[in-house]
Amino acid sequence: ETPKRLAGRHVLVTSGPTHEAIDPVRYLANRSSGRQGHAVAAAAAEAGARVTLVSGPVALPDPAGVTVVRVESAREMLAAVEAALPADLAIFAAAVGDWRPAETRGAKIKKDGHTPAPLTLVENPDILATISARTEGRPPLVVGFAAETDQVLDNARKKIARKGCDLIVANDVSAEGGVMGGLDNTVHLVARDGGVETWPKLGKEEVGRRLVARFSEWLAA
Ligand code: C5P
Repeated sequence: ETPKRLAGRHVLVTSGPTHEAIDPVRYLANRSSGRQGHAVAAAAAEAGARVTLVSGPVALPDPAGVTVVRVESAREMLAAVEAALPADLAIFAAAVGDWRPAETRGAKIKKDGHTPAPLTLVENPDILATISARTEGRPPLVVGFAAETDQVLDNARKKIARKGCDLIVANDVSAEGGVMGGLDNTVHLVARDGGVETWPKLGKEEVGRRLVARFSEWLAA
């Protein structure tokens, strides 16, 4: 039985990839399965929190006891996150697409035997940075994730400064590790003061439970 360390708290979690539409049948996406974000949401609910999970398209069942808001694009995800505030703890585990097509065509683009028009991309809003920068209604604890293939800790420290969040959960997503879409995760918890905790390789469910336990301690401190 998990202790109800988060009773009375509202926890907001983002999870999964985003889909950025090119036309009605095509989109840009990434390999995120949503497993780690969903596991964090499930663990927060087990710990007694009211949980809002804003999720991109995933093939996972909704975690028990969690309110799930389904979105497709980064801009929809940002709007859903803003609508779900205020929260005591916000965990941004989604693999948000950095770019979207500048234009979404209303009808399927035809092959027509021609070279296709180049796909022009524009930057998506950074949800983590946007919420971290709020002067009013900023969640007291804002956690980001960093999927890195090299210089994991260095990049995580820079990311905290750039995004304005309080903690980064960094993981190595080099193809050899099989983290992206896999069942296990090796994470490093990087704090604002540069302090690092490195955990052994664990199942994503266990990582979710341990993260929630650590976040609860930070909130209580
Ligand atoms: O910059 P990078 O994408 O590596 O940062 C990852 C962190 O930022 C994750 O917590 C992710 O959920 C968040 N993020 C976001 N909105 C974006 C891009 C990333 O919330 N547009």
